[in-house]
Amino acid sequence: MIIDGKKLERSCYCGDLRGSDVGKKVVLTGWVHHKRDLPSCIFIVLRDRSGVVQLVIDPNVSKEAYELAQNVRNEFCLCAEGEVISRGENINKDQATGEIEIKVTTLHIVSSCPVLPFNLKDAADAKEETRLKYRYLDLRRPELAEKFLFRHKFNQVVRRHMSENGFAELETPYLINSTPEGARDFVVPSRKYAGHFFALPQSPQLFKQLFMIAGFDRYFQIVRCFRDEDLRADRQPEFTQIDMEMSFIDEDEIMGFVETLIAKIWELIGVKVTLPIKHMTYAESMDRFGVDAPDLRYGLELKNLNDVLAGTSFGVFQNVLAEKGLIKAICVPNCSFSRKEIDGLAAVVEPYGAKGVMSAKVGAGNTISGSLAKQLSAEEQAALCARMEAKEGDLILIIAASAKVTTASLGALRKHLANKLGLLDKNRYEFVWITDFPLLEWDDEEGRYVAAHHPFTSPKLDQLHLLETDPGKVLARAYDIVCNGYEIGGGSIRINDPEVQRLMFKTLGITPEAVKRKFGYFVEALNYGAPIHGGLALGADRVVMLLTKTDAIRDVIAFPKTQRATDLMLEAPTLLESDQLEELHLEVAKDSAEE
Ligand code: AMO
Repeated sequence: MIIDGKKLERSCYCGDLRGSDVGKKVVLTGWVHHKRDLPSCIFIVLRDRSGVVQLVIDPNVSKEAYELAQNVRNEFCLCAEGEVISRGENINKDQATGEIEIKVTTLHIVSSCPVLPFNLKDAADAKEETRLKYRYLDLRRPELAEKFLFRHKFNQVVRRHMSENGFAELETPYLINSTPEGARDFVVPSRKYAGHFFALPQSPQLFKQLFMIAGFDRYFQIVRCFRDEDLRADRQPEFTQIDMEMSFIDEDEIMGFVETLIAKIWELIGVKVTLPIKHMTYAESMDRFGVDAPDLRYGLELKNLNDVLAGTSFGVFQNVLAEKGLIKAICVPNCSFSRKEIDGLAAVVEPYGAKGVMSAKVGAGNTISGSLAKQLSAEEQAALCARMEAKEGDLILIIAASAKVTTASLGALRKHLANKLGLLDKNRYEFVWITDFPLLEWDDEEGRYVAAHHPFTSPKLDQLHLLETDPGKVLARAYDIVCNGYEIGGGSIRINDPEVQRLMFKTLGITPEAVKRKFGYFVEALNYGAPIHGGLALGADRVVMLLTKTDAIRDVIAFPKTQRATDLMLEAPTLLESDQLEELHLEVAKDSAEE
């Protein structure tokens, strides 16, 4: 590089220097992390992507450097020439380079920097909007930057493992037509064909199946996917999958391989994953945890009370039982929640349709206190405590509603309680495969069955006959891998028999014309000797979230969207100029576009 008319070459990164480098002449570059003016000299902590090192600018060594340094402020970009010297007794134990410092002989100001819109050292106090608008500054923070350097290593480990196991990294197009996953598509208007649109892929699902039909046998890709869906802490509209597909395999072989990949990935943070990973059916997961992605780091399991309360005289329970509803509960051991805290739990379950949470404090001798105590006989109280395996001092939280509402509400309540009770140990990883998902879900709005995963997922082979008679009962050859309550991946064995595929579309109420229009190319491809095949996609962002111990997906995506699916830095999405709209044959409905 040329600085101040001089050709210089950086000798190393700031964070690389150690005691053994004392005496070396160095050329360092970086940003001013911190500056301290003393009467005798100026100290600057210089930062680059590797870490920090202390510069000492002494007027007795270089008057010019000292004068320049006086004008330097935080986040100026500098280049320093100097010599590595020992700090003697003054070791800074908090810095990897703490044994040494740099005696600066020449200082160059590469570029200056105004006062930042937020203080990098107190970023947690800054508004998230400001940090996203100036994301390139936020990315200077070592805590954030290290997540992306880690993500780089993660990608390398994945590529190496996939490649060593015979998977070919193959690319698939981004401008496609609609894919069959559940979310809405992002669409791209065609300039050449008026009124026609491309869609961005929700995943490369059908392409990877076509690779199998083409004979590639093992495919993988670290690929961007696009879904226009409501965002959550673990969801972004564009996210990355580690997508894979294999031929001539079954569920166990795919899951077995994915486990080896997971073990390799977790080695990156020094965690040994115990293989094989346990399996749990979807039905068991819903029954015990109320969700299909259970967090197994803690208990608080849901217990069914329908049989315990079958003969109850309490009207609320009687009604729920008469309507074939579900009464379930969670027992919080040795619980000291205040009345206010207990009342507050209603807000947690409300979004899931429950009208409230009933509570019972467990007393001595299998009795309960609270308003419910008056409604239940001594035998019922004892049976309730026995079912909940409750001890004196525990708190039983009960929900009675339809099966769907009770399950979802208690699932959410369980998570809330774990958080409140501090049970979420970020250094522990509990993996589980969820299997035996239903193939179809009834959609009230559409008045038909829809695919629970996607329409190319194979039904269990011994249940094919049920597709025509009792489709709701059919289970899928699908599996999800879950870690600490996050669904980190999902996949299935695919349908490779054109007849079964036709039957599947028929069950889904998709007409042959609609099939032809949407997936004609794929259905045709299935006729040309499709191998037995299946695969899985890991959510790369979620995996990196877990590995870097953050709860926010935005922390592991370099330039993420906000919760409202906007980019504050780009100010995207934007309105188009009228000539651009015209070129794309588009007209925006009056009043619908806001500046
Ligand atoms: P699925 O839809 O389950 O399967 O996606 C696979 C994994 O991708 C992650 N994921 C997301 N991560 C962040 N933001 C999102 N909006 C988001 N949506 C999904 C999850 C999920 O487990 N084609 C199939 C895979 C297959 O069958 O092989 C698919 O896309 O971790």
